[in-house]
Amino acid sequence: MRYQPLPASEYINNRKNFMAAMQPKSLAVFNSNDIYPVSADSTLPFEQHRDIFYLCGVDQEESILVLFPDAVEARHREILFLKETNAHIAVWEGAKLTQEQAQKQTGIQTIYWLQDFERVFFELAAQCDTMYFNRNEHYRAAVETQTREDRFIAWAQKNYPAHKQARSNPILQRLRSVKSDFEIAQIQKACDITEKGFRRILNFVKPGVWEYEIEAEFAHEFLKNRSKGFAYTPIIASGNNSNVLHYIENNQQCQAGDLLLLDVAAEYGNYSSDMTRTIPVSGQFSKRQRAVYDAVLRVKKEATQLLTPGTLWKQYHEEVGKVMTAELLQLGLLDPSDVQNQSPEKPAYKKYFMHGTSHHLGLDTHDYGLILEPMQAGMVFTVEPGIYIPEEGFGIRLEDDVVIQPSGAPKNLMENIPLEAEAIESLMQA
Ligand code: GLY
Ligand code: MN
Ligand code: MN
Repeated sequence: MRYQPLPASEYINNRKNFMAAMQPKSLAVFNSNDIYPVSADSTLPFEQHRDIFYLCGVDQEESILVLFPDAVEARHREILFLKETNAHIAVWEGAKLTQEQAQKQTGIQTIYWLQDFERVFFELAAQCDTMYFNRNEHYRAAVETQTREDRFIAWAQKNYPAHKQARSNPILQRLRSVKSDFEIAQIQKACDITEKGFRRILNFVKPGVWEYEIEAEFAHEFLKNRSKGFAYTPIIASGNNSNVLHYIENNQQCQAGDLLLLDVAAEYGNYSSDMTRTIPVSGQFSKRQRAVYDAVLRVKKEATQLLTPGTLWKQYHEEVGKVMTAELLQLGLLDPSDVQNQSPEKPAYKKYFMHGTSHHLGLDTHDYGLILEPMQAGMVFTVEPGIYIPEEGFGIRLEDDVVIQPSGAPKNLMENIPLEAEAIESLMQA
């Protein structure tokens, strides 16, 4: 692998925490993702399912993790099933984990080959009352594809209909939302790679450059620094494209005088960073662009201060909404009657700022987190207010990634990435 992996002690600890939350006489199963087909014999690059990765660090397809804390035989408390390899298979299919490598990387002692799964699982099923299944319960999930996990669940339900079922996902949502120091270091590394990409393009963006050429500059810098690439599909949006929240075509030419919204960031070791900057194509903001830019920046700074232990998601968004409303009044985008006539369900500011201010960040870009529970130290959030004004031909969003501290303001993992308008202008004009 091209990244520095976390030590096995991290995964040992993650499994210990998961197993501590399980009911007596239960087992839990976690599958790798499929390698998704394109057509003929083409496939998309493999992306490991983040849950099995979180619990054992294995970054390989066709792997299955079974946790069974009350197993009769101690060696069956943690089992990892892997696609078989040996010297001959390695020549034909490329290097896969050996049993010894897998033990070292994951801290799991019992490694079996995948073809033994059904036989071993039959034996384990006789000893347990409850099976934990890992359904995708993320609040933003909208998945139509049947995953390898879904196929396993359907198989297990058919073959073991008399067992009780339980949900792994709420346990994982809780555990994964609070990051260890090692995880924060991986996210920091992803942010540092993103910084390199951003500094590179500050010297590159000029009137006439194409959005995809900017994308290529980022990709070059990310790959050169041991990232697999973009943590999510990059948004490189000049002019009015910046008002399309999910613009990913990146196929337009940047025009003098326009703004360029860049929602682009690197992954590292399967951890995401998530950054947005908005820069002037010509190297200098107009007076109006600058006024809106500074308003977004003030909202971002105020929102960041609210990310402290105990803060509730809903109240946080309401508070940020008030700060944003004041800025929009100041900019003349709202007038007092808009605010007087607003309802709690439809606040006036939503006309110009229609998305959330923050989301959890980690192994997934929109990471796990129980958003009805208070925020805690060690959670990583984005802060990403924006003001979008199609009638003026530009939208501005600014986004950093921060870690909640035990007390006081959060730590900004992107504090070295230029953000103030003067800093951006002077770097672009250098
Ligand atoms: N880049 C995705 C987001 O900001 O949420
Ligand atoms: Mn983003
Ligand atoms: Mn984001």
